Amino acid sequence: MNIKPFKVEEWMNAYETGARYNIAETCVDSISLDELWALSGVDKQAFWEEVCARRMTYGYIEGHPDFLRGICGLYRTVKPENIVTTHGAAGANHHVFYSLVEPGDRVVSVMPSYQQLYSIPEAYQAELQILPLREENGYLPDPDELRRLAVPGTRLICINNPNNPTGALMDEALLRQIADIAREAGSYLLCDEVYRHLTQEDVWSPSIADLYEKGISVSSMSKVFSLAGLRLGWIASHDEDVLRACLSHRDYNHISCGMLDERIAAVALGARDALLARSRRIVRENLQILDDWVQGEPRIHYSKPRAGTTALVFYDYDLESYAFCERMYHATGAFVTPGDCFEMPRSFRVGYASDQEELRQGLAAVSAFLRQLEKEERA
Ligand SMILES: Cc1ncc(COP(=O)(O)O)c(C=O)c1O
Repeated sequence: MNIKPFKVEEWMNAYETGARYNIAETCVDSISLDELWALSGVDKQAFWEEVCARRMTYGYIEGHPDFLRGICGLYRTVKPENIVTTHGAAGANHHVFYSLVEPGDRVVSVMPSYQQLYSIPEAYQAELQILPLREENGYLPDPDELRRLAVPGTRLICINNPNNPTGALMDEALLRQIADIAREAGSYLLCDEVYRHLTQEDVWSPSIADLYEKGISVSSMSKVFSLAGLRLGWIASHDEDVLRACLSHRDYNHISCGMLDERIAAVALGARDALLARSRRIVRENLQILDDWVQGEPRIHYSKPRAGTTALVFYDYDLESYAFCERMYHATGAFVTPGDCFEMPRSFRVGYASDQEELRQGLAAVSAFLRQLEKEERA
């Protein structure tokens, strides 16, 4: 299969480990198992004694019941039998395309977004249609434009809510409107919901799996629950054909997820409220820090995120985004992601859910680089 390079992941792989101020990371500040246990109140010794005594088999092929129950708690209508567990949301997104998309199928995907959502269907030789998310619409999909692209017979529409990189948030009314368009077209609707629940306001975050009978929700333990190291994600849907296709294809590429990982994820989901409170506090406090910084930089602008962990920041300097980010990284140690990874020139993505001090110092380092650019302009 011929597939385009995954720009954001290649960028992260190249620079992440050596970054002095990593403000490119998209997970809410990752936690250790010690921190998880402290938050969960679960008896650590009893847990590990029980787990260590177990034989390391394939475990529950379709997911540990406690893990599945924990996932159900994140939805209104999803039951264990509606879930397919996967290796991260990356595994889940790929698995949906692998299971459902044939050459020639029409697939509509939003951009900017996570590149999987357009480059994988393209690689599977789908007839890909891009629905651009525009700054003037607050990076929300335009329903009229979607209706024009999602002609009857469209196989799959792909959206991402909250959006990476912009932090735009679709409300329930807009999701229902998009579901109506998908229904008219007879299309499945995949919503990458990996940042769901990370809202700036205390509101219930609706899921496409609860709103649309052919909706497919993808999420994971990585971002909201700060446990990317578990590499666990899932697909949730009420559609029998989707579930059947995903489960039968899963025998070929997953068999099962790690039994140890699933047990730890079950502990985390058992402590859902404490973890969510921590994550929401971090994204809210940190967005205030980012917003203050943006307001203080006259040649920087953005649409303030409403949810998620990322912001797309535009700059008014004569430098393309890869050169901007590479030069800044080497000059100051500030590590952000070039907007061209999302086909958004003259911008960069900040992941603002990192450690607060690292965020402050990272933004100060970005400012130092901007002053350097201004000095060069004057020279
Ligand atoms: C929108 C989106 N989907 C999926 C993923 C992959 O997440 P996971 O760690 O669960 O595989 C990411 C990671 O950055 C993402 O931003």
